[in-house]
Amino acid sequence: MIGNLGDLPVGLAGKRALVRVDYNVPLEAGRVADATRVEASLPTLRWLLQRNVRPVLLSHLGRPAGRPNPALSLAPLAPTLADLLGVEVDFAAPCDGEAALAASRGLAAGRVLVLENTRFLPGETANDDALAGRLARLGDVFVNDAFGTLHRAHASTAGVPARLRPAVMGLLVERELAALDSLADPPRPFVVAFGGAKIGDKIDLMRSFLERADVILVGGAMANTFLRARGVDTGASLVEETALEIALSILAERPDRIRLPVDVTVTERPGDPAATTRDVAVDAIEPGMAAVDIGPESRARYAEEIQRCASFFWNGPMGLFEDPRYAAGTFAIAEAAAEISEAGAFAVIGGGDSAAAVRRAGLMDRVSHVCTGGGAALEYLARGRLPGLDILADA
Ligand code: 3PG
Repeated sequence: MIGNLGDLPVGLAGKRALVRVDYNVPLEAGRVADATRVEASLPTLRWLLQRNVRPVLLSHLGRPAGRPNPALSLAPLAPTLADLLGVEVDFAAPCDGEAALAASRGLAAGRVLVLENTRFLPGETANDDALAGRLARLGDVFVNDAFGTLHRAHASTAGVPARLRPAVMGLLVERELAALDSLADPPRPFVVAFGGAKIGDKIDLMRSFLERADVILVGGAMANTFLRARGVDTGASLVEETALEIALSILAERPDRIRLPVDVTVTERPGDPAATTRDVAVDAIEPGMAAVDIGPESRARYAEEIQRCASFFWNGPMGLFEDPRYAAGTFAIAEAAAEISEAGAFAVIGGGDSAAAVRRAGLMDRVSHVCTGGGAALEYLARGRLPGLDILADA
């Protein structure tokens, strides 16, 4: 059994809760550019503060490869959190040193302490014992509310809760799991859409949906890889060569369930405002042209499939949607997800980019559930477990 905040012992007032949050947020010019993940952490922090528990926060930001990198400091998160939470927020660096320990012990009631990026230390991703031991001294209880990082067995997500008990999940993790659990035995038809560029990470997990989902819509660079595997000349499109074999085996396993684009938007220079853009059938991609979105016929077909479903899960954009010229496919999926949510179906958006697209399209409030972590959501749906969660279970 995995405990939640309600399972923490009574008499916690005055104690320190070491809270693993996921503040892996986009920064622009040293400021938080999107505070969605910070906002998502507020209910747990409010719960603790209302009980006079002193929250000490650990998080990673980016992938600094075990070395301090000022551009990835968590320092800008302190003022952002202070504004959103309406309390004073302290900051200490590094997260495992004597200064952090002293700051945690001296943290005044009603304040929050944010510690420096855990990934500035080489032991974090290696789940180093000594580092986990040093971090575990920073709290009297452990709360994991970093939903987006539950698929990582790192020192701050797995090593610490192995040492610091009680260790429970926070309110965000509970909310996310409840939404994903309703897709464990989803109302049918169940449609899944996969896109984005992180193909290597995802394609293996996709296999687990072949039996569970009625239809799998594929877009983005993921679709290019499938098209190439099927023998289509994809020109200069981004293709994950190492995934061609697995793409082919997935196609062979359930060809009836996989939908690939029939047309795509292509350009000779993605991102160049002067470059030409046009829609072509997938078998007419010229050499030197790269697919950057699904085309109008594919958009219509995909939207139709989504409109027919009772439950829907989407991970990864259909193209380079950050450029408005290549955003129509991704926005069509977002719009369809909003429409079916309002019509009573259950639609879950899992993934930083897909969530950003939904936000940009102004549809956040119209979709059933938007996850704060794509990789974690996908892995939980595919495998039914996550390393950061397993460690919280009773021994
Ligand atoms: C995310 O943004 O998906 C999480 O914060 C995990 O980050 P990671 O993929 O760098 O481990």
